[in-house]
Amino acid sequence: MATKPSELSDADMIQQGAEAKIYQGQFYDKQCIIKERFKKTYRHPVLEERLTHRRIAQEVKALLRCRKAGIAVPAVYFMDTCNNCIYMEKVEHSLTVREFIQQFQPPYTEEDNQILRSVAGKVGSILAKLHSNDIVHGDLTTSNILLKSPYDIWEVYLIDFGLSQVSHLAEDKGVDLYVLEKAFLSTHPRTEHIFEQVLAAYSKNYPNSVEVLKKLEEVRQRGRKRVMVG
Ligand SMILES: Nc1ncnc2c1ncn2[C@@H]1O[C@H](COP(=O)(O)OP(=O)(O)OP(=O)(O)O)[C@@H](O)[C@H]1O
Ligand SMILES: [Mg+2]
Repeated sequence: MATKPSELSDADMIQQGAEAKIYQGQFYDKQCIIKERFKKTYRHPVLEERLTHRRIAQEVKALLRCRKAGIAVPAVYFMDTCNNCIYMEKVEHSLTVREFIQQFQPPYTEEDNQILRSVAGKVGSILAKLHSNDIVHGDLTTSNILLKSPYDIWEVYLIDFGLSQVSHLAEDKGVDLYVLEKAFLSTHPRTEHIFEQVLAAYSKNYPNSVEVLKKLEEVRQRGRKRVMVG
């Protein structure tokens, strides 16, 4: 088990994933989130070092690109390449879309549906803006989208850009939506009507969406064939 870098001695770990540990700490006088990518011991150390660096750089670059394009993402404060850490703004008073949806239990009431559809619309709009700027997230799940309170305003933030890339290809954007669709519907059963709203808002806000949605359908069909063939 990797030990905590001494620079993080005052930070509290709040989450541990398969590839990263998330701490809450301070950057000068600001509350911040510190994301530490730790090394996998089963990979060759040189390859591992390179992969870890690449993912941190990819994440920071994408966050900066998003900020420049006016897409809500945490501000990057500092990148510590020695300890593979990114220091970023903590999105205060936020919860993940996953946690948000899980507060509601199916069968949803009409009021629940209204709230959920409204959030889904905001998610679709931010994805439209992301793809209009040729940024492909690479790991869209309901845990990588935050909602900042007050919840009747629901400001949507995107996080976790370690697998992101810059691409103008409709295929890459279609796969991005497909990954979210899969994650969304498997994490939140009986939400097809909610996810439809993500796609509706995406189409409305992204002029090139027709091509992307065509690719999404192709990727879905490929997925179905794979399941049938086994
Ligand atoms: N800037 C932030 N502000 C508030 N909460 C955050 C922030 N960054 C991360 N979090 C919280 O920490 C969780 C994990 O963060 P993140 O998704 O970046 O890491 P991860 O999924 O472990 O990483 P990876 O999938 O790249 O291995 C998020 O789901 C969210 O709850
Ligand atoms: Mg994540």
